[in-house]
Amino acid sequence: MNNTKPYAFDTVVDRRQTGSLKWEKFGDPAVLPMWVADMDFPIAPEIINELKQRLDHPVLGYTQPTNAVVASVVDYLADHHGWKIDPDWLAWVPGVLPAVAAFSNLLDPQDEILVFTPVYHPLLLIPEKSDRIRVDVPLQYTDNRWTIDFNAFEKAITKHSKLLLLSSPHNPVGSIFSRDELRRVTEICSDHNILVLSDEIHCDLILHKDKKHIPTGLAAAELGAQVITLMSPSKTFNLAGANCSFAVIPDASLRQQFVNHCIFTVPLVPTLSYTATQAAYTHGWPWHQKLIDYLRGNLELLKREVGDIPYLWMDDTEATYLAWINTRDLPVDNAYDFMLNAGIGLSPGTQFGDGDYQRLNFACSRAQLRIAIERIKKAVGSIT
Ligand SMILES: Cc1ncc(COP(=O)(O)O)c(C=O)c1O
Repeated sequence: MNNTKPYAFDTVVDRRQTGSLKWEKFGDPAVLPMWVADMDFPIAPEIINELKQRLDHPVLGYTQPTNAVVASVVDYLADHHGWKIDPDWLAWVPGVLPAVAAFSNLLDPQDEILVFTPVYHPLLLIPEKSDRIRVDVPLQYTDNRWTIDFNAFEKAITKHSKLLLLSSPHNPVGSIFSRDELRRVTEICSDHNILVLSDEIHCDLILHKDKKHIPTGLAAAELGAQVITLMSPSKTFNLAGANCSFAVIPDASLRQQFVNHCIFTVPLVPTLSYTATQAAYTHGWPWHQKLIDYLRGNLELLKREVGDIPYLWMDDTEATYLAWINTRDLPVDNAYDFMLNAGIGLSPGTQFGDGDYQRLNFACSRAQLRIAIERIKKAVGSIT
């Protein structure tokens, strides 16, 4: 496959009438949906081809991971993240969130779950829904970057702290954590016997040119910390509706506990999802390289334009396609409603635990992004 192949990132795909969660949410065709984390780009043609080929076989029965799909993940981790894992460490699930929920449910009710805030809201809601105690540790903004406040983290730990939910790279603040930061987090957790659950679903969306994603499980390899790394092709290759994820769980007894818990409570990964996963990790990288170039172009445009809009500013997005836009100074009652009235459906920062911000998904055609920017400019310009 050659790298110069033009993939269709500029194509505007009409996703209405396809049951798209993103496009049906607002029920108003005038609103551009720029909220939930899926992309408006067509997936890699290489994945579509493999799915079509799989359908030449007429049975879609219960499916377990084949050696080939396992090998595609093992090779992906080695080639793209420098992490050599034992294939036995993998446990497959139809989503990252069911895995987070399963680990949360494995705890005792008085156990505490630590989470760095603001954060992707299900990581706030899952502990609540499983009646566990959630302890929020605010991230800090220093040197133009959101990072972990280690003092606050250590202070928040009690004898009941049992689990840390980490989003890495971080949704919504977009930080890529360094090896040192990850080692420090895992060392602290190891000292206090806290299991680290690292949600790395955005790990292949690295937009910062000089930074690299480091799997927490790799950063902690020699530290003796208990780390579970959760990954998926869903954000990387725009396969969110394909429902295939995997947990890397080196500890055999923890893995067995997790697998036992998932029987009957978490469905098996669908047959075609394994096909899409294997195709993505095996043949999807030329498409992915073009994706990253396109997203970097979108981010640059957005940053430049938002920088010129009064009252707004954008924090650095090192990774993900989610811009974290500060709307605190906007002289309106409710910035989310203001943007919605301007025809842009964002994710409200309150959802993630910080009402000063709104999250904007810029994984769309540049033409759509330009329309969104023009709408924001016009709406802000009309404030008197
Ligand atoms: C940080 C993060 N984790 C998990 C998910 C959802 O994962 P899944 O659909 O595999 O449950 C998302 C989706 O936006 C996300 O941003």
